[in-house]
Amino acid sequence: MAVNEQMDKLAKEAEKAAENAYAPYSHFRVGAALLCEDGTIITGVNVENRSYGLTICAERNAAASAITQGKSRFTALAISTPDSSAPVGPCGACRQVLSEFMSPDALVRFGRNTTEYIDTTMGDLLPWDSLHDLKKQ
Ligand code: THU
Repeated sequence: MAVNEQMDKLAKEAEKAAENAYAPYSHFRVGAALLCEDGTIITGVNVENRSYGLTICAERNAAASAITQGKSRFTALAISTPDSSAPVGPCGACRQVLSEFMSPDALVRFGRNTTEYIDTTMGDLLPWDSLHDLKKQ
């Protein structure tokens, strides 16, 4: 499948996932879809809590689900924020966490929907990765 076709598919999955977001406090739904190295797509949504600080972002939920299924390398990410007025990129914490599992050239598409979006890369979202020298043993 061509890269753009693959990203379109990923964005659709993120948009579909966003419908299941649990966001009764912010009313700001987020859906994330990760393309795993083996070609499978794993999604996640934001899950809020009445103790606000315990909220988990869609991107980190997607990563945790994928890792639970034995998949820990991702080649692309799509994010859907249907309640925003413009495309919304991943938060700083998610950029850091995802950089553990994605290379700087991994593609990232974030959009309000599947027609209004920004295409970028992990490296652009997290430049000058301060911990890139910390190697896994
Ligand atoms: N949120 C995400 O799921 N991902 C992000 O990258 C930004 C923020 C969620 C957290 C909260 O439920 C809502 O969006 C508003 O901040």
